[in-house]
Amino acid sequence: MVTEQEVEGLGQMLVDPQKPLQARFRALFTLRGLGGPAAISWISRAFSDDSALLKHELAYCLGQMQDSRAIPVLVDVLRDTRQEPMVRHEAGEALGAIGDPEVLEILKQYSTDPVIEVAETCQLAVRRLEWLQQHSGEPVAQGPYLSVDPAPSAEERDVGRLRVALLDEARPLFDRYRAMFALRDAGGEEAALALAEGLHCGSALFRHEIGYVLGQLQHEAAVPQLAAALARPAENPMVRHECAEALGAIARPACLAALRAHAADPERVVRESCEVALDMYEYETGSAFQYADGLEHLRPPPS
Ligand SMILES: [Fe+2]
Ligand SMILES: [Fe+2]
Repeated sequence: MVTEQEVEGLGQMLVDPQKPLQARFRALFTLRGLGGPAAISWISRAFSDDSALLKHELAYCLGQMQDSRAIPVLVDVLRDTRQEPMVRHEAGEALGAIGDPEVLEILKQYSTDPVIEVAETCQLAVRRLEWLQQHSGEPVAQGPYLSVDPAPSAEERDVGRLRVALLDEARPLFDRYRAMFALRDAGGEEAALALAEGLHCGSALFRHEIGYVLGQLQHEAAVPQLAAALARPAENPMVRHECAEALGAIARPACLAALRAHAADPERVVRESCEVALDMYEYETGSAFQYADGLEHLRPPPS
């Protein structure tokens, strides 16, 4: 059992900008695993920080916790145009992940936001909530991954057909996301390579989600494509960030050079992602010191 004082300690660590980012991330993942109103309120307080990387992860965690008590803070963040697009995007996605239809109207409203990543996210979240309503009461097919995804995996199992659906820019984004998650669930080299092709598709939101999914899949075949996307200075920072975290999650020696090469990137969110990814690399390879809280197993995959 975790005491109130321990939750308080984790919360203080999370909201302290003087503490190393990695330690703050650890505190966040532990709070996420604990859940409950105290954890939600500590996580909410950290939205006043100035690291977009940390703030987007707060929103991601609140979504994954699927607790309706986080709705008000997530709506505030979605509405707040001073927050970075990546943070507002993650708040919109989290509102979809919680699955409560009460947020349908607000999500519809932000489906035409001038920030395209925010608009597309809200369109997807609306589709997810509508899909849940249409399929309520049906048994949920649980795939190999525990994340709450922005779209359910497609029923199609054929990797070739899923690849075609994924890369077809004329299809609705929601259907392409469904193909994306089905490819992830299928796994294997062919699926990893099909997903990696998606790093060249049109929407930055789509490409960043490809990076996320490749991080979950952890297949070495995608490393060259992920490293190339991270190295493209003209690529959207949200995409480069996700590729860095995926490389950290794949955690093979080939990933290290790419991450080290961008550890001083001029783009803050990329630089911080590489820092956190290098930390994850050490974690995955088990060579780093173990964190003292004893709750490392609660650590989710990167978003
Ligand atoms: Fe995201
Ligand atoms: Fe992310």
